[in-house]
Amino acid sequence: MARPAAPRSRQGGLIRCIAIMVLVTIILFGLIILIIWLEVRPKLLTFTVEESSVHGFHLEKNHINGTFRFSMKSYNPNSKVSVYYNSMNVYVVYDEQTIAFSDAVVPFFQPRHNGTQFVVKPVAQPVLLMGSVSRDLRLEEKTGDIEVAVKVKANIRFRLGIWKSSERTLRVFCSSVVVHISSAKNFERSYCDVHL
Ligand SMILES: *[C@@H]1O[C@H](CO)[C@@H](O)[C@H](O)[C@H]1NC(C)=O
Ligand SMILES: *[C@@H]1O[C@H](CO)[C@@H](O)[C@H](O)[C@H]1NC(C)=O
Repeated sequence: MARPAAPRSRQGGLIRCIAIMVLVTIILFGLIILIIWLEVRPKLLTFTVEESSVHGFHLEKNHINGTFRFSMKSYNPNSKVSVYYNSMNVYVVYDEQTIAFSDAVVPFFQPRHNGTQFVVKPVAQPVLLMGSVSRDLRLEEKTGDIEVAVKVKANIRFRLGIWKSSERTLRVFCSSVVVHISSAKNFERSYCDVHL
């Protein structure tokens, strides 16, 4: 037996009611997500170079040899978000030329409110140095120190509870890192800019 069709006006009221409920649900859901996001929005990680040295530094006419060693520290200031560092490329830059490189950083996990110290060892690249680079390096070398920039490109993921973000590229730029070549002077910590 077919049910008698509801009067048109009642049906229209029901549809309107459902539409309003759906709309309210969507708005509520959006608000909840917004509040959660504002609450846990990841703060930017910070990076410093704590120590630097170079081993086997040798400057020839237009190329260098040597292995740099930087002790770096990253700090995760977040109280809810932790970080996976999946891979890291480290470049030593002098006058806009990359003179040394390393991608051999062991992946690590950084809990909340955690400072982690790690060591990177970029190796001088067998590239032809630009004329200005080898000239300036030679002049600086005589003083016993050279000043380089350290650039880090890291692939990271954030974790919040059981949720993990997709992989993002973190860019770190430490614009002025002094490397002692001949002396064992105290190293001054240098601070880095961080972009995500
Ligand atoms: C940071 O986390 C690492 C790895 O979990 C741990 O070994 C280290 O002790 C932590 N450091 C601090 C300052 O909590
Ligand atoms: C410097 O490195 C080059 C390769 O890049 C190598 O052929 C050369 O023997 C090295 N020189 C020194 C003094 O280590």
